[in-house]
Amino acid sequence: MLSQNDVSSTDDHRGFKGHHMLAPFTAGWQSRDVNPLVLEKAKGSYVYDIHGEKYLDSVAGLWCTALGGSEPRLVAAATKQLNVLPFQHSFFNQATKPPLDLAKELVELFTANKMSKVFFANSGSEANDSQVKLVWYYNNALGRPNKKKFIARANAYHGSTVATTSLSGLPLCHQNFDLPDPFVLHTDCPHFWRYHLPGETEEEFSTRLANNLENLIVKEDPETIAAFIAEPVMGAAGVIPPPATYFEKIQAVLKKYDILFVADEVVCGFGRLGTMFGSDKYGIKPDLVSLAKALSSAYVPIGAVLMSPEFYDVIYSQSNKLGSFSHGFTYSGHPVSCAVALEALKIYKERDIVEQVNRIAPKFQEGLKAFSDSPIIGEIRGTGLILGTEFTDNKSPNDPFPPEWGVGAYFVVQCRQNGLLVRGLGDIIIMSPPLILTPQEVDEIIRIYGIALKKTEEMVEELKSKK
Ligand SMILES: Cc1ncc(COP(=O)(O)O)c(C=O)c1O
Repeated sequence: MLSQNDVSSTDDHRGFKGHHMLAPFTAGWQSRDVNPLVLEKAKGSYVYDIHGEKYLDSVAGLWCTALGGSEPRLVAAATKQLNVLPFQHSFFNQATKPPLDLAKELVELFTANKMSKVFFANSGSEANDSQVKLVWYYNNALGRPNKKKFIARANAYHGSTVATTSLSGLPLCHQNFDLPDPFVLHTDCPHFWRYHLPGETEEEFSTRLANNLENLIVKEDPETIAAFIAEPVMGAAGVIPPPATYFEKIQAVLKKYDILFVADEVVCGFGRLGTMFGSDKYGIKPDLVSLAKALSSAYVPIGAVLMSPEFYDVIYSQSNKLGSFSHGFTYSGHPVSCAVALEALKIYKERDIVEQVNRIAPKFQEGLKAFSDSPIIGEIRGTGLILGTEFTDNKSPNDPFPPEWGVGAYFVVQCRQNGLLVRGLGDIIIMSPPLILTPQEVDEIIRIYGIALKKTEEMVEELKSKK
């Protein structure tokens, strides 16, 4: 919601608004003290703003430009399709070739559990929203009209529609929107550092969370619980990899009560964790999978739902009985989006994107985790090419800095002033760089992170001395 007037004419294009340039830091920082960033060009892992300033994009847009911002083959694939058949729909016994080819590729690529069919959407939100409708349809077809509730996790993010905001477990997304809708229940966030009990091991923590899940299911009545949805590594929660044995124990509970597993692979899919999908990394055997983002390296909007054969067969026979399956979007299976996604998958295979991530990830993870000793960092966590930094005092999850100090926002602007884009969520910093990241670019990320951290430590020290 920006207008041209929001872009100040201050000469500090990289960050602070003019009036703050000389102001002493007495009250801390908020991100609104920073000039909006207006970008106009991308090259590899870098983006350029309208003033020609260059930034290393360590977030890959929003965890999505896996192949960076200037992959000519994706542009060529879009152009070719636009010239041949820019649009036709996929309703009423009709389709175009790109979605048919893409569906075939996707069910072959996803091997953690057998998948047989694909429904196309235009975003992660639409994919997850469709999951809800598909699951309800499925249980109606099976004559289980009460088995409709979803269980999601506290702090999860699954999208911005009414249903997917409800699935999300972030209070800020619910507040003032009259959400979550009561069909969603939330269970524990599996963040070991923040929520483990004194002396509890990761395995014990996972056991406790699985027990809590089972207690919730029994309390609600298993006959009312349809599905559980989870991101393999939680993204917008602040990058939370699962604790040891977590998914193994959770899946055992779901199986016991005939509850479907929906894997939200919107962020984790296509190599980011060093496996093609997050489900591969953590032994998840989902019934349904949501994909988006890196599916097209974000060059065009697309989302997808993968369905297991057992699930699809029920949907298919029911829709045959009813005469049609009445769900879909005008742009479901858009030929241009699917052509670009097909080319992205081809590139991932040709360049062995998983191997590429595994080659670069240790340097990225170890280089940044080396800052863990900073007195203002509580935890640095991550795997593959995804990393979260949480600022807290005294190394404790229970000692947050006063929100009005804007510690995270200050770090973000320090990075930006030095040519690095990171994403701040309060005092949590998220990084998820393009998967094409080079060793030199990792060095640059580490160098700028170090400068920004030092500045932020000094700001915190100054604010503490004035308390
Ligand atoms: C795990 C996850 N699921 C779903 C979504 C929603 O995707 P979209 O923004 O494409 O609707 C996001 C967005 O960041 C996400 O992180």
